[in-house]
Amino acid sequence: MKLPRLFFGTNLKMYQTASETAAFLGELAQLTADLREEPIIRFVIPSFPSLPAAGAVERNGIRLGAQNMHWENAGQYTGEVSPLMLRDLGCIDLVEIGHSERRQLFGETSQQCNQKVLSALANGFTALLCVGETAAEKYYSISDETLAIQLKVGLADVSPAEIAAGRVWIAYEPVWAIGVNGKPAPPAYVQERHQRLRLLLRELYPGQCCSVPLLYGGSVNSENASAYIGLEDVDGLFVGRAAWNAPAFDALLRQVYAVWKEKGGSGPC
Ligand code: PGA
Repeated sequence: MKLPRLFFGTNLKMYQTASETAAFLGELAQLTADLREEPIIRFVIPSFPSLPAAGAVERNGIRLGAQNMHWENAGQYTGEVSPLMLRDLGCIDLVEIGHSERRQLFGETSQQCNQKVLSALANGFTALLCVGETAAEKYYSISDETLAIQLKVGLADVSPAEIAAGRVWIAYEPVWAIGVNGKPAPPAYVQERHQRLRLLLRELYPGQCCSVPLLYGGSVNSENASAYIGLEDVDGLFVGRAAWNAPAFDALLRQVYAVWKEKGGSGPC
């Protein structure tokens, strides 16, 4: 069995004001309008203050996500944003959880990520759980151990029914491959990690793991995107810098879609 869709999106991190985000999305929606009927899930994850403006744009099916979320509906958590607040916006489809910048720079733990995943699902969102090893973990050859811990803890108590509903996505993003100082990962290395993640999902959710798309991210650009999406166990790409203007997003998506179709859709699971 294969996942029937290609997943392709970007996280805008702490870039783009509300008006810039709206302009970006509007242009992107126009450029990719003809792809709406194709088996592609396009998504954009803006900053919190940009979400209302982004929600007001005609998006031609582009899904919107939030970059983070507290797991409680309300409480004494200064500076945090709750699931109720996101739901009230009425435009959020998914919540990104555990991006490496959250884990590395803000000390987010896998247990907290798990609380966020459970809360996101309970509130009707799709949970996009990010996992990835640091350069040191890779050096000590414990990448798979790190990924297994992040995945098992992150998905603790997530039911097979929720997995089957397709509302959990996983993004593998090696910390050392992300951002301006990141080094693109060798495709063979990415395939090995994705294969291990798929195996683990199969163990955790027998018969259901086909519902979980495995996205790859970290310095994806027009030079390496085809190689990544051509890998057997890569179902989509999660792009940063290379997709932050609409023509670049559109061109990269079309490039990736052509390769994805050529390989016959997403990998067997
Ligand atoms: P990058 O970001 O493509 O700019 O490396 C990827 C990410 O952080 O998701």
